[in-house]
Amino acid sequence: MQNNNLKNILAQAQKPGRFSVMSKKVLKRLFDSSGKHSQAENMAWLKSHCSSFEAIAQRLDADLWQESTQYAVALEKHADVILKDIEFDLGGGGGYPFLYFITRYLKPEIVVETGVAAGFSSHAFLSAIAANATGSLYSSDFPYFRLPRPERYIGIVVPESLKSNWSLYLEGDEVNLPKIFQQVNQVDIFHYDSDKSYSGRELAMTQAKSKMSSMGIILMDDIQDNSYFYDYIENNQPPAWHVFEFRGKYIGLIGDLKKSDP
Ligand SMILES: C[S@@+](CC[C@H](N)C(=O)[O-])C[C@H]1O[C@@H](n2cnc3c(N)ncnc32)[C@H](O)[C@@H]1O
Repeated sequence: MQNNNLKNILAQAQKPGRFSVMSKKVLKRLFDSSGKHSQAENMAWLKSHCSSFEAIAQRLDADLWQESTQYAVALEKHADVILKDIEFDLGGGGGYPFLYFITRYLKPEIVVETGVAAGFSSHAFLSAIAANATGSLYSSDFPYFRLPRPERYIGIVVPESLKSNWSLYLEGDEVNLPKIFQQVNQVDIFHYDSDKSYSGRELAMTQAKSKMSSMGIILMDDIQDNSYFYDYIENNQPPAWHVFEFRGKYIGLIGDLKKSDP
């Protein structure tokens, strides 16, 4: 198994641009900051600020929340069929019922996400975009380098029929995000679910902030991993933000979940 891992890592490292991202990822594991707050302080803060997404969604549009939960059940069934034949664990999806609801509710023109893996979040954005009949998704990912030929698994749950509004970049956020942000005027939804390090989050947020539309929504997954989100809220004091829980993990949202049109 270890030999196979090493073989896969070496095969990926030889591809153009991959070695630099891979070595930075290893260095971050060793030297990355965990933030201003300890793990215990961060967890206590997340728990004390956690709201129910369902309660907010029900208040905003109960029918749409019902559509979103039905969508999520259908996605899980669809993904189960595809993923059961794959011998590796590609990880579960991040908050897809919420992502579907927010995208259907706000009808964004431009959605940017980092972290695709099997593609639960991409499927949610693209399904909502298809139902809205407007919008495009730009996704940034970097292949899981311990797997053999990992590119074939990226977005594997996304069917061809949803791909017409999708631009997928595979060279890592540091390379992909500047390319994506150069192509779009404004971002209406930015979803961060890739490199979970403090510095990875900081780099992406610094770039994303200058591109967000006035009513733009930022979502960040797995904010229990370090205190980046907590520190961001303390340092920037945004007027509207939330913490939600999804399957034992926490998601941060910055922005106001109200439509810009009355
Ligand atoms: C948690 S998974 C994403 C799950 C996905 N959002 C979903 O809902 O199904 C994280 C993904 O981010 C990718 N990733 C890790 N570091 C990255 C980086 N520096 N740039 C881009 N993608 C990265 C991983 O390879 C993996 O595919």
